[in-house]
Amino acid sequence: MVARTPTRVRVGGGGFRGGRGGGGGRGGRGGRGGGRRGSAMKRGGGRGFGGRGAGRGGRGGRGGGMRGGSRVVVQPHKHEGVFIAKGKEDALCTKNIVPGEAVYNEKRVFVQNEDGTKIEYRVWNPFRSKLAASILGGADNIWIKPGARVLYLGAASGTTVSHVSDIVGHDGVVYAVEFSHRSGRDLVNMAKKRTNVIPILEDARHPTKYRMLVGMVDVIFSDVAQPDQARILALNASYFLKAGGHFVISIKANCIDSTVPAEAVFDQEVKKLKADQFKLHEKVTLEPFERDHACVDGGYRVPKKRKAAAA
Ligand SMILES: C[S@@+](CC[C@H](N)C(=O)[O-])C[C@H]1O[C@@H](n2cnc3c(N)ncnc32)[C@H](O)[C@@H]1O
Repeated sequence: MVARTPTRVRVGGGGFRGGRGGGGGRGGRGGRGGGRRGSAMKRGGGRGFGGRGAGRGGRGGRGGGMRGGSRVVVQPHKHEGVFIAKGKEDALCTKNIVPGEAVYNEKRVFVQNEDGTKIEYRVWNPFRSKLAASILGGADNIWIKPGARVLYLGAASGTTVSHVSDIVGHDGVVYAVEFSHRSGRDLVNMAKKRTNVIPILEDARHPTKYRMLVGMVDVIFSDVAQPDQARILALNASYFLKAGGHFVISIKANCIDSTVPAEAVFDQEVKKLKADQFKLHEKVTLEPFERDHACVDGGYRVPKKRKAAAA
């Protein structure tokens, strides 16, 4: 199997400016078995997690690598609301806003304060979350931060949504749209305990159906994996994304066109977004966690820079 490294590309006014190569080691897609040692925090490192089909529990299984427990140091990541647990293996994590509860059987780590109270963090597996994969791929910005109002398209059963819920905290809100009723059931159950998540079981192609539920948002995160996903994002942005707001879209190349190279699909999607008032900032490929996927982020209806006052 050929392991690949992620790349980050700044997207300037005129299109992709050529890539900055990804660094770091390789880890393939987790292969078999949890319990692999090493740091998941290195760009391109796929270690510290069991990966897809690892160990027990299917995709990503029961976390592989990072052990739960208290002998762990937790440090803030450069993205506010995201943390790194440094134990025998490093792992990305978020601070659990519902202490005592795991959402998808993920590992939890605890840090004891001097006063005896504990802070609980949930380990965030990049093999199960494109957002986590893009953070480990070195994304400059995810725009999702404490207090943010987020519209999440393609929520599935709420794995990533739950971490977004941790990041935005009780002052933020996550409107989570999913049209599969099967996944939606888990999403709704998760939202019973996470009061900052508003589950919406609708088709994201029809935002008028949920316009009464959703306020203006700061960020849209889109992971619907559909051929018309750029249009779906643009449509939702036209209803709900504030001017000067931001977006992150996960692009799965072979959902859009499996006959051309992934890079060509990413460029094609970027062109579509630019035509719809999105200003692109960066593209991060998600290797080795996801093959032929990229996350692209940027701004929406970005106010034009004021020209320097006339002399
Ligand atoms: C790749 S999965 C999302 C995984 C999820 N974001 C996570 O990280 O846990 C794509 C999801 O989008 C949902 N989806 C696809 N098209 C949709 C649409 N038009 N409206 C709402 N949900 C949609 C699918 O049912 C599926 O659950």
